Amino acid sequence: MTIGVIGCGYVGIVTSVGLAHIGHTVVGVEAWPERLAALQNDQLPLYEPGLNDLFEGVRATGRLRFTHSIPEAMRECEVLFVCVGTPPRENGEPDLSQVEGVLREMGAGYPESAYRIIVNKSTVPVGSADYVRTWMEEELDSRPGDLDIPEFDVVSNPEFLREGSALQDTFYPDRIVIGSTSDRAFERMRRLYEPLLQRRFDPLPNLRPAPDPPQWIQTDPRSAELIKYAANAFLAMKISFINEMAGISERIGADIGQVAQGIGADHRIGKAFLQSGVGWGGSCFRKDIQALSHLAWEHNCETRLLEATLAVNERQRAKVVQWLQSELKLLKGKTLAVLGVAFKPETDDCRDAPALVVVDRLLDLGARVRAFDPQARFDTPSRSTFRRLPTALEALKGADAAVVMTEWSEIASLTPEAAKGVMRGDLILDARNCLDADTWRQHGFRVVAFGR
Ligand code: UGA
Repeated sequence: MTIGVIGCGYVGIVTSVGLAHIGHTVVGVEAWPERLAALQNDQLPLYEPGLNDLFEGVRATGRLRFTHSIPEAMRECEVLFVCVGTPPRENGEPDLSQVEGVLREMGAGYPESAYRIIVNKSTVPVGSADYVRTWMEEELDSRPGDLDIPEFDVVSNPEFLREGSALQDTFYPDRIVIGSTSDRAFERMRRLYEPLLQRRFDPLPNLRPAPDPPQWIQTDPRSAELIKYAANAFLAMKISFINEMAGISERIGADIGQVAQGIGADHRIGKAFLQSGVGWGGSCFRKDIQALSHLAWEHNCETRLLEATLAVNERQRAKVVQWLQSELKLLKGKTLAVLGVAFKPETDDCRDAPALVVVDRLLDLGARVRAFDPQARFDTPSRSTFRRLPTALEALKGADAAVVMTEWSEIASLTPEAAKGVMRGDLILDARNCLDADTWRQHGFRVVAFGR
């Protein structure tokens, strides 16, 4: 099939490359000239493990090209994925202006009497499929002349990609959710995803085939839209839950790692997303929980679990600073090594990264910060006390304490012998529970970690 992908941000690029790899011809549409030029010159504007090689591979087949023109994609593609951003407004409600903008352009460029499927992949509020239909119809209706409105369908197809494991999640998803009211759209979408459902694509190095093919979940658009929000809210709630248990463990002398193992062995609970630490960050969880709370508020529903999920997560960040204060007393003039800045390993993304919130607070308290991250894209503020260093050991030089904020392998594999040679102090705050605390203690370090 020939497929259009409107918006070449993170989701759009991964979607385009994935669809091209499983055999489709893909037209990626990007409005931002620099990003478009980079993509046309075979340069990826983001870091994601394995994506570069795959991108080069599919570009070489000629099945993936990029343009700025929505009308061109409308002419050539039967299925068009909308992958533009939906940033939160101040009240937590997602801002749909980018979605509306591209929808209106798609309506204006709609080829006469063609059938098109508009697929919402951006995380959009429940009910957006109706908006999308309305915007499209308004545009089609306002075309000059007495043209009939062509037949089109709107589909909600939420994505469940994790940054850092996006290729694994693209090729071996647990489920594919399609929300629509049209049998024709269901049939076309099933055809589009058939290579994933049947596992008919060239296997990729470094990916682990999942034991079962993805579940095909066919539903109405509202349920599909809510599935996306509910999934992210549940995952965030699971992390906040284990972090609440970590707080209790600290007080009573239990070990949260063992507690997580013990509860995760129950298949009804599952062991994933029970890693305690400084909590979740990234562009999705907070935004989606706020959007869901806003929706619930509009409909007079109480959302106590959602509120508690957010509150526990905030508290974890504050706790890192409180621990440093209680161990080092005054932070003014102290040198602190912050190891890891991205919101999780294997990504360069720093949106809502716990590390940046903690660093800001430490700078306000007068500390000097030396940060290291192997990939993170972050601008160091003009405050001269915040330096980015090229290696973890460089960042540790002269530090009174080290704070592990992201469990990159180069950080988790640091040895106490190496750290001892360069640090001034002996305090390690492992905010991701990724170091072997006993070994570090045996080398004379004081180790503080969540739930231990
Ligand atoms: C999340 C979801 O996992 C995806 O399914 C979804 O598609 C995506 O949001 C989205 O809506 O776009 P992502 O934000 O990339 O994916 O990353 P996760 O792997 O879910 O991690 C989120 C945060 O939780 C990270 O800061 C991570 O360090 C933290 N985390 C994760 C924990 O603190 N403990 C855990 O046990 C797991």
